[in-house]
Parts: sequence; C-alpha cells; structure tokens
Amino acid sequence: MFKHSFKRKSLSMLHEEMKSDNRLRRVLGPWSLTSLGIGCIIGAGIFVITGYAAQYKSGPALPISFIVSGMACVFSALCYAEFASMAPVAGSAYTYAYATLGELFAWIIGWDLVLEYTVASASVAHGWSKYFQNFIGMFDIHLPKILSKAPFDFDPVRGNFIPTEGLFDLPALLIVAFLTVVLIIGIRESSRFNNIMVAIKLAVVLLVIVVGAFYIDTKNWHPYAPFGWTGLSLFGKTILGQTGADGAPVGMLAGAAIIFFAYVGFDSVSTHAEEARNPQRDVPIGLIASLTICTILYIAVAMVLTGMVPYNQIDIDAPIAAAFQTVGLRWGQFVISLGAVVGLTSVILVLMLSQPRVLLAMARDGLLPEKFFGAIHPRFRTPWKSTIITGIVVGAMASFIPLGILAELVNIGTLLAFVIVCTAVLVMRYIQPQAKRPFRCPWVPVVPLLGMAFCLILMFSLPPANWLRLGVWMLLGMLIYLFYGRRHSVMSRYHESGKPLKE
Ligand code: ALA
Repeated sequence: MFKHSFKRKSLSMLHEEMKSDNRLRRVLGPWSLTSLGIGCIIGAGIFVITGYAAQYKSGPALPISFIVSGMACVFSALCYAEFASMAPVAGSAYTYAYATLGELFAWIIGWDLVLEYTVASASVAHGWSKYFQNFIGMFDIHLPKILSKAPFDFDPVRGNFIPTEGLFDLPALLIVAFLTVVLIIGIRESSRFNNIMVAIKLAVVLLVIVVGAFYIDTKNWHPYAPFGWTGLSLFGKTILGQTGADGAPVGMLAGAAIIFFAYVGFDSVSTHAEEARNPQRDVPIGLIASLTICTILYIAVAMVLTGMVPYNQIDIDAPIAAAFQTVGLRWGQFVISLGAVVGLTSVILVLMLSQPRVLLAMARDGLLPEKFFGAIHPRFRTPWKSTIITGIVVGAMASFIPLGILAELVNIGTLLAFVIVCTAVLVMRYIQPQAKRPFRCPWVPVVPLLGMAFCLILMFSLPPANWLRLGVWMLLGMLIYLFYGRRHSVMSRYHESGKPLKE
C-alpha cells in the first residue's frame, strides 16, 4: 500500500520540470534575496520575545542564547544552501526531502512548513496589531475594544479559554488582506516593498544598538546566568538545569529555544529559488548573508537590552521601547514602535510569500489539488489562488484565534524541518555523490551532524507540551496524506502505470 510512498524524486526529474511553462518569474538578484531573508527574520523575535526570554529563561546570558540558536541556524543554512544550489525550485525543504527521503517524508515536511509559514505569519500579525494599536495610541487614536482583539484567549494557568471584550482583531485582518493583494500583484512589487521596509527596520535596529550602548550599565550583567547555562527536558521531565514555575525548563539553553523564533524564516530565501535570476549562486548568498547580518545585530541588541535594564525588570510586551523609556529616552518609544510595525509587516509579507510556493510545489506533485494550488496567474506570474487561500487562513487565524499555543508550535516545527534538511544533505551525499553541487556545504558530515544536534537540543529545551501538539499536528497531516495525497500523487501514478522512474 505504501510502496511508492518511499519513492524518491530524482534530481533529473526536478531539472526536467523546471523547463515547463507553468513557472514563476525569475527577477530576484542577490540583494533582493538577502533583503527578503532579513525581511523575514527581524521581527517579533527581537521586538517582543526577547523580553520574556531575558526575564524568565536566560537573564543577562541572553546574547549567548542568541549565539547558540544562531549556530543551529548557521549549520542548517549551509545545508539548505547546498540543496538550494542543486534543486533551485520553489519547494525548499519539501523538495529536498522528496529527492532524498521519499514522498512520505516530503509530505511530512511540507505539512510541517505550514506550521512555520502560515502559523508564524498569523502569530506575527497578532503582534503587529498590538504594536500598531500602541503606535496609533500615541496620537490618541483608539479602536473600539470589540475590533481590537480575538473573542477569546487561552489561560495557560487554568488551561481553559476565557472570553475577552473583543469580537475580532481588525488591524490583523486588514494587514493580512493588504499584503495578500501586494503578493498577488507580483514578486517584483513584493520585493520592492520589502526592500523599503527592510531599510527602515535596519535603521531602527542600528539606532537601538548605537544609542543604547551609551546607556549600558555593566552592573546589570551580574549575575550573568541567574537561571544557569542549560535547561533541557525529556518529555516533561527536566533532565538538565532548573524547572520554572510553569513546569518548563529554564536556563540559557531554554532561552535559546524560545528566541529561536527570532531566526524563523531565514530558510524562506530557499523558497524563492524559482524566482531567482541565478539561483545556484544567489540563493546560498541570500541565505548565509541574511542570517549572518541578523545574528550579529541580534547579539548586539541583546547585549544592549540586558545592559540597559536589570533582567528581572525587562518589559515583556515591548522590551526595547520600554528600555529606552526607562533610561529617559522617551522618543525611543515612538521610533522603536514605528520600526516594529514596519519590521513585522515585512515578516508577514515574506512568510506569506513563502507558503504558497511550498503549496505550489506540493500541488505539482499531486499531493494537493493541482488545479487550485498549482494555478499561476497568467499576467502576474504568481501562485495567486494559493496566495489567496493563505491570506484567508492567516487572516482568520490572526483575527479570531488566540495564538499563544500555536505560536510555540512554530519553533518546534521549524526545528524539525531543519533536522530533516541536515539529514537529507547527508543522504544525498551518499546516494548521489557525483551530482553537481554549485554550492557545497563545508566539512560534511560534521556540519550537518552539528546542525541536527543543535536543533534537537533546542527542540528538547522547549516546553514539553509542544511535543504533544506537534504530534497532533502531524497526525492530522498523516490523515490528509492517507485520504488525499497518497491517492493523487504523481509518483503513484507513474508507479501504477509501470513506467520506470528516472533515478
Ligand atoms: N523571525 C520572525 C520574527 O521574529 C518570524 O518575527
């Protein structure tokens, strides 16, 4: 029954497919790709989550958490870069898994990427709405409560849903609708819009670092790691380090697992391979350059933040803006809120740009309905129908559902994708040692093995409930595969028609 589910899609098939007409427009160069990477990386992670990570998980050791999390990403990025140069098509990790581990793994990773792109965009849209309302609040403009938030919220202490005064989150819905339109109109337009936003947010982040550095009080860095250096749990039981009040591990490693969200999205560069002018060269550049730039900025911001304010007084909702206020720089709140609104906009844009491209690749393989998800707009050359459906789902999630629970899922889902890509690089080196690799991941097998190890450690440092949620998500995915994908897959049709599959 599952015979073809482990069949791999050969590299020659991938290259053959790239010659067909139903393709995206190749307009992106190395700068645009790097900018898309930065556009997707710097957002809620640095502007929001750093506060929680510093106060409850890492303390002043937050920059080390950023380094550890960044290392997991750098090792994985090198693996992504090798694959992206070998198979420059739209599907990213999904396609790499198809070529190495077979259809079932490909489906699992494709389904997992929905967590990364769709659920993350909905979470960031939520954060965007908060910052936006905060920003217009500075001009004394306030939305009616009924339009300002989701109708219910999740109470993590009691474990149940509680009603709010809201009906739905209008700003979140509007930003998603606006970005959906931009995304349909064209990749060039989306990329230009992203470039402007990236320039603004980089300027704000640099300003934070340069100005904030003058307000560092090194006394705030003592004790440096009040929660310890570890924080590792195995299915609910802390095996290294201390346990926090909520039962989850605390410490520098646990902090690294939480702020991993700040790096989510660098891999989106690889989903744009089909729109890159020279993907073999430029996608690896985009991946590695955007990640390196953001890692350096993150470490600097984390040093400044923990130096400006004692770690246990860092604000949880708007940590950087509040730190500037604490030291008397009131204008900081305005500039930083503006930077956050702009920064979060580009994150949503690029995440929502990436999701339809993965769906497109899955539809081309028959794992999703091709007529719908594989449709490319005749004029704009964008996967417009899957962009619209992505917009609808993200908009609905962002405006009606409390995303506290789902947002945590993003980290574990993305880390799983990275583990699979690192594994896939090793498998590919073994099954196709002679294949052309315009970019070669250095020090194989050390780098992929380190990538896997770092990502797995971070997965085990996340609050344990995430494993359960990931399991439920994957089970749902398996059901869809059983009842739809397996029956409609192009590979299964090849298989049943008796035609040989090219290897
Ligand atoms: N890395 C993105 C952010 O921090 C998802 O918002």
